[in-house]
Amino acid sequence: MNTVQKDEKYLGRGGTPRPLVVKKTDGFYVYDDKGKRYIDFFMGWCVGEVGWNIPEIDKEIRKFKGPTYVAPSYYYEGWSQLAELLAKVTPKGLVKSFRATGGTEAVEIALQAAMSHTKRQKFISIEGSYHGHSIGAMSIGSSDFRSWYKNLLFHCNKITPPLNEQAAVKVEQLLSKRDIAAYISEPIVCNIGVEIPDKIYYGIVQKACKKYGTLFVADEVATGFGRTGKMFACEHYSLEPDIMCLAKGLSGGYGAIGATIMTEEVAKSFEFSFSFYSTFGWHPLNVQAAIANIKYLLKNKKKLLANADKSSRYIQKRLNSVKFRYPATIRAKGLAIGVEVKNERYVKGIILKALQKGLLLADTGPTKLVMFPALDIDLKTLKKGLDILEECL
Ligand SMILES: Cc1ncc(COP(=O)(O)O)c(C=O)c1O
Repeated sequence: MNTVQKDEKYLGRGGTPRPLVVKKTDGFYVYDDKGKRYIDFFMGWCVGEVGWNIPEIDKEIRKFKGPTYVAPSYYYEGWSQLAELLAKVTPKGLVKSFRATGGTEAVEIALQAAMSHTKRQKFISIEGSYHGHSIGAMSIGSSDFRSWYKNLLFHCNKITPPLNEQAAVKVEQLLSKRDIAAYISEPIVCNIGVEIPDKIYYGIVQKACKKYGTLFVADEVATGFGRTGKMFACEHYSLEPDIMCLAKGLSGGYGAIGATIMTEEVAKSFEFSFSFYSTFGWHPLNVQAAIANIKYLLKNKKKLLANADKSSRYIQKRLNSVKFRYPATIRAKGLAIGVEVKNERYVKGIILKALQKGLLLADTGPTKLVMFPALDIDLKTLKKGLDILEECL
């Protein structure tokens, strides 16, 4: 049996896989088992922010001579180092990191921390969003999940985009009942096709959260570490969240790791009295990968963000000049790019054709095409990728 046949027989999946057997990654390219090269505009959905197999990061990881494993109840130098790094790079006030294996767990920790801190049980999130696959994370995600787990979900109010002044007033009305533990969203919502809230939306929401004792949770699992042109998407709105969820770009794909970082005040209210035990949360090898990745990002931050900005402007210019078969809405912030074309078959067709021609894209919604190229992608590759996209329209 070949790889695909064995996969079909032995691997459980949530959806039909794309016809691509990955053999190798390099920079902003993926190679299949026949040696064909694909330009990666997907980057594992906001995972590979700095590109794949960067020699400097690979070298740091290979240097690892640390312990095979450290049990959560001990001290470990790598944990202290990474936690200190996160406190330094994340927005003001966020100090204390809790250890997670990935984004879902980071969100779970945030929800539990918010309930524990506020002694409230309800949440507000964005309709259609995605925060992970656990029951808790699905409770605050798209209402479509309700058809599967009707009786298990806890109470969550969903705000339907556009995220403008009107939507913010609705959030404020809900908050005024003083029974909402946390407002949680991606600051720029990649999972619904790069929804970019109005400035006034967050102005009202953040102020109302403070007024009514609700925590503001920023899920930066996808947007964190440069994706939207700033280190964190919160920076676009000068947001100061009480809790931030991190994963994906935290290791850039070089390891499997997540983190929930929060203010001292929130952490203090339940630390040592609540269990976030995770056997593999911050496994030493993944910690080494995350530290190497963040250090690389920080060292090259100015260059990477400047390139992301230049590339974003180029992509927007190209997308605005091409002809989609149906009316298209283009949304972009940094290198989080969404194109909404209200025809599911058309979007699916573009993705499949692009794959055949050597370009990796993604969809969400399912009428939204999304692109997340690496922050350091060069203009020549970008141009080639967009040429392919144009051929597929
Ligand atoms: C915004 C957001 N939060 C949480 C998650 C869940 O992360 P993970 O797949 O690492 O569990 C995702 C995954 O796509 C995400 O995009």
